[in-house]
Amino acid sequence: MATVFLCYFNFPFNQHPIIMSNFSRRQWIQKSLLASTALLVAGPAGAYNASGIDPSSEQNGLLKLNWNENPYGPSDKALKAITQAIKESNRYPDAVVNELKSKLAQRFGLKSSQVMLTAGSTEVLSLLGQHVGLKKGEILTPWPSFPTLIRFGQACGASIKKVSLDKNDRLDLNKLKDGISSSTSLVFVCNPNNPTSTEVDNDDLKSFLRAVPENVLICVDEAYIEFSKKGEKGSMASLIKELPNLVICRTFSKAYGLAGLRIGYALSSKMNIDALRSRHLGWEISAGIAPLAGAMATLDDPEFLKMCVRKNEEGRSIVYKAFDDWGIEYRPSSTNFIYARSDAFRKNIISSLQQKNILITKWPDMTHHIRISIGKPNEMKQFVQAAKAYLV
Ligand SMILES: Cc1ncc(COP(=O)(O)O)c(C=O)c1O
Repeated sequence: MATVFLCYFNFPFNQHPIIMSNFSRRQWIQKSLLASTALLVAGPAGAYNASGIDPSSEQNGLLKLNWNENPYGPSDKALKAITQAIKESNRYPDAVVNELKSKLAQRFGLKSSQVMLTAGSTEVLSLLGQHVGLKKGEILTPWPSFPTLIRFGQACGASIKKVSLDKNDRLDLNKLKDGISSSTSLVFVCNPNNPTSTEVDNDDLKSFLRAVPENVLICVDEAYIEFSKKGEKGSMASLIKELPNLVICRTFSKAYGLAGLRIGYALSSKMNIDALRSRHLGWEISAGIAPLAGAMATLDDPEFLKMCVRKNEEGRSIVYKAFDDWGIEYRPSSTNFIYARSDAFRKNIISSLQQKNILITKWPDMTHHIRISIGKPNEMKQFVQAAKAYLV
């Protein structure tokens, strides 16, 4: 059991690429750089922004409804903590690293050694993708789903097996289960799912996770869990003690409103966390003292989280109402974005809204859908008013 991460590809401990006793760090860094180059060529996850506009131009009156950011963050408490922490920027942040890890561990009933802090959950996803890719393993994923792990994996040599969603654009857990074979190295589960905004039933997901063979890694990406029906209670983190092959990815970028600070984390068995840490270029922590302090303060501010979730629901219902009135099909969202059919709009709705400084998005293989992130209620009214002009 203790060697779960290692047995995914039947490696003896000292030959495992992520332990690297027999695999020089220089070789690994070279591989990583090659992978990064490939990713640069392919473009970052942000390349999914169909607008092509640099997000840094947000200040220029742009209504950014394209990257699922939180319009209310950072919280006042986080801002205060960040400002204070900046003054200590001359020091390495190890004390705050330990503090945040132990706070998260306590929250989930785990040990600090089962938590890894990263610069956004993108880092955990990329490490897992690299892990499978460098071993030429196979990633099984529902599709469409969040592409970061898949793209990193592919760039590093993994093969990808995609399984379609069900007719309601939810993860099809039966199909996913049927898709597992002796070649499967990792199953990716994004719940709630991006881009479709749907979630699966908690008990169904638990049964599925328990049915995945022990030698297959599972990555459950819970970037939007706080917006889901059960909120934090819907997290699969409670299964970590039971399933040593389970890695949960979490982020402070969405409901906590700290996307620009880049802070996220992984929860898993100690063995997996040690393995991930050993191949992390930032030696576990790539987030600086300000993101760490911001995350600590936000965790202690449940009122801010509640407000963000409530306001998100308010923003969502403004769009639901308009779409209902217009007969636009959309998926009831468990996230801070809406996935809607695009057929009832003119084909150029995205570029036309962009001309009006309103950014929404669609991904390359979303041929009949658009995705609208939820901003403040007045911003959603602005979106509705503008979008109405493009109904066919
Ligand atoms: C499902 C999902 N996972 C992970 C991420 C990465 O977020 P971050 O790196 O900011 O934590 C995103 C970002 O949009 C996402 O939608």
